Amino acid sequence: GFEGVAGTQRQRVTEFWDTADVRTEGTPLVQQAVRFNLFHLLGASARVDGLGIPAKGLTGRGYEGHYFWDTEIYVMPFLTYTAPEVARGLLLHRYRMLDAARRRAAEVSQRGALFPWRTISGEEASAYYAAGTAQYHIDADVAFALNQYVWATGDHDFMARYGAEMLVETARLWTDLGFFSEQRGGQFVINGVTGPDEYTTVVDNNLFTNLMAQENLRAAVRAVNWLRATDTNAHAALVERTGLAEGEPARWVEAADAMAMPYDESTGVYLQDDDFLHRKPWDFVGTPAEKYPLLLHFHPLVIYRHQVIKQADVVLAAFLLGDRFTAEEKRRIFEFYDPLTTGDSSLSECIQSIVAAEVGEMRTAEEYFVDAVSVDLADLAGNLRDGIHIASAGGTWMTLVYGFAGMRDRNEHLSFRPTLPSRTSRLRFRLRWRGRLLEVDLARDRVVYRLLEGDDMVVRHCEEKLTLAVGSPVEASGPVRPGTVQ
Ligand code: IFM
Repeated sequence: GFEGVAGTQRQRVTEFWDTADVRTEGTPLVQQAVRFNLFHLLGASARVDGLGIPAKGLTGRGYEGHYFWDTEIYVMPFLTYTAPEVARGLLLHRYRMLDAARRRAAEVSQRGALFPWRTISGEEASAYYAAGTAQYHIDADVAFALNQYVWATGDHDFMARYGAEMLVETARLWTDLGFFSEQRGGQFVINGVTGPDEYTTVVDNNLFTNLMAQENLRAAVRAVNWLRATDTNAHAALVERTGLAEGEPARWVEAADAMAMPYDESTGVYLQDDDFLHRKPWDFVGTPAEKYPLLLHFHPLVIYRHQVIKQADVVLAAFLLGDRFTAEEKRRIFEFYDPLTTGDSSLSECIQSIVAAEVGEMRTAEEYFVDAVSVDLADLAGNLRDGIHIASAGGTWMTLVYGFAGMRDRNEHLSFRPTLPSRTSRLRFRLRWRGRLLEVDLARDRVVYRLLEGDDMVVRHCEEKLTLAVGSPVEASGPVRPGTVQ
């Protein structure tokens, strides 16, 4: 009856806010906008029940209800850390697409599996190859989300039963797609792909794609070795299902180790692709505000010939794979690419904000954050009638947690390097991590880490290692200042 359904609903929603809420003090409008985004993440994901999350959530007809990488790179971090069972369901949904992805790889004359750039049923639904199907990075995005999920949850069972097979098939795709180039001294090159930036298409050695493929290859090797060492039956089943040959993982290691990373000595920056600097600079000064987004006012081929970026690409690599760059390299990357980035995609601002915060550009970080958090509430993109932007909603959470709180999750422990937006006096959020519930509470003069559930754990706060236990909050030394690079 109604009361029963309403009661269950109330309980689920209360549980959601209890874990997923991000509380901010000092700026009520920001709090409202943050909750608006979280609410839509709830709506888009809570009853996903074996399906995916469309780019517009459940709110509109834009993109025909299709699923993109928005889920894996922008929404899954939020789910992995607040509702891991939902994240698991989404990964299982990708696993169920694996046969279609194998067929798709064969269709485009490749080995392994190629996940669709946009889809509902698992079949590729892109109508445009340049800024669609050529985005092979989708394979590595799925692999990235899978690894992040297993790292954060400790769900090795998922890796053994489903994940390893996805990693093997996607690693295969990369070694078949690229080759060891004699001309480049044996480097492994991946030509003719489109990276995240849809204003620069079908390029050679898109840095983001190459680095993410490298991660994918290494993760596949680790998964195969781990299964061989720990579970001979699961390893045998994997070999059986994928036809894995004895020498294949060794080839993945070689490709990963020799991966080309375009770099320009004169500017000291990693290049978005081999030819990025050969394109004509875009006339930003002569482009009035009403000509944005560029894709609605210029022919795509014109845009493709210029040094102009739709959305974070190298900057996204600098965030997701932050441990692959030095602090100085990240600063140069941000300074070089930020002025060339139009933000014509709502997937951009949140990432620009996170990296701006990391390199100490706090004012820019805050401006981007405001754009990301209010893109739908204020209809900044002017297309809310088509539905909300779910990637930006997930990105808003990332901006608070990875950006201002400075969380990183690519080493042994969760780590934090907090800063606070200038008008925010306090920021609090909770995370699920390997069966635990952790609360991070930032104020101007202190940071408190509270373990609310689960076994003791270690977190890093800047350079300090803190051991946390339930009932014993730990206050970290040092105030959190706005605009301070810590
Ligand atoms: O997946 C995105 C893409 O990166 C930019 N254009 C819109 C897509 C759906 O949000």
